Amino acid sequence: MKKVLITGGAGFIGSHLADYLIEHGSEVWVVDDLSTGSLDNLRPHPRLHVVIDSVTNEAVMNELIHRVDHVYHLAAVVGVRLVVDSPVRTLEVNLRGTEVVLKLAHRFGKRVLLASTSEVYGRQHENRPLSEDSERIYGPTVVGRWSYAAAKAIDEFLGLAYHRERGLEVVITRFFNTVGPRQTGRYGMVIPRFVEAAINGKPIEVHGHGRQCRSFTYVGDAVRAITRLMASRDAVGEVINIGNGAETTIIDLARRVKELTSSDSEIRFISYEEAYGAGFEDMMFRTPCTRKLQQFAGFTPSVPLDEILRQVIEDRRMRNLSPALLEAAS
Ligand SMILES: NC(=O)c1ccc[n+]([C@@H]2O[C@H](COP(=O)([O-])OP(=O)(O)OC[C@H]3O[C@@H](n4cnc5c(N)ncnc54)[C@H](O)[C@@H]3O)[C@@H](O)[C@H]2O)c1
Repeated sequence: MKKVLITGGAGFIGSHLADYLIEHGSEVWVVDDLSTGSLDNLRPHPRLHVVIDSVTNEAVMNELIHRVDHVYHLAAVVGVRLVVDSPVRTLEVNLRGTEVVLKLAHRFGKRVLLASTSEVYGRQHENRPLSEDSERIYGPTVVGRWSYAAAKAIDEFLGLAYHRERGLEVVITRFFNTVGPRQTGRYGMVIPRFVEAAINGKPIEVHGHGRQCRSFTYVGDAVRAITRLMASRDAVGEVINIGNGAETTIIDLARRVKELTSSDSEIRFISYEEAYGAGFEDMMFRTPCTRKLQQFAGFTPSVPLDEILRQVIEDRRMRNLSPALLEAAS
């Protein structure tokens, strides 16, 4: 039986990963400070152990990493809203947390999967699928949103440095928009924000002109991909996109959410400045090249957007039901 540690395991991707690993026979430890995650995301199980603490607490992490075979490092300050509003914490957690994980995994000789992000590519000018060796184009340091990309890029450098210089087994995965049930819209994630607005009859707020393109990956596909990569000796030392090649514009996404929820909500355009303050920059395109994922994990995510939206809508409607109604429905 594999013993696995998931940092950030009470979060969106981490909790789905915990479900999957438990279902497939692993014993799972979760460490999470519950800053954006929630214990409600985790289903109690005899093979699930939850530690509420910070990934930057070296003594706790020492104990946990010593105990397990594999570490999935997902804990991070995530979401445009938080990154813009809490820049110090973003940098501290996203840099120091990774440093602690890599140092201890090296000390005990454990394989690590680092969760990086498509943000690492920075701002791209052409609509070409982003492959892992694409150039990275960043804005100036006075524009706060780039700190997240820069910190995650340093995490990647550090992971690769530990691999090359000290032989640590590291797999680096760059998640593109990963979506599905349990994701919260509180910190700026677009699908939960739109769904929440639509089912509550509030305006669906599109930032900018809405013609920016995104691709969305179902969380179940992402989890399957990272578990396969963790199990593959060949993936060690590699940087691999986790994403889906299908594109949609944000305005089409808003329209689709409205249709699928049969909502009367107005679609309202607001400027980035209004949403995130002066100087905010967004990208027009963000689509992954999935060649390496296919090569190393043996598949590419394929759950279509409509199916993902249906699941998110159902999940959101269930959460909106009062506890009394839920009890009556069960
Ligand atoms: N969801 C996406 O679309 C996406 C895209 C790119 C990258 N990622 C990466 O995937 C990982 C998981 O993201 P997610 O979408 O599940 O977000 P999430 O916010 O749901 O998960 C992050 C988890 O980390 C926890 N956390 C934050 N600071 C911590 C700390 N100091 N110590 C311990 N736990 C801490 C939070 O409480 C939360 O449970 C992150 O590293 C993120 O950068 C996600």
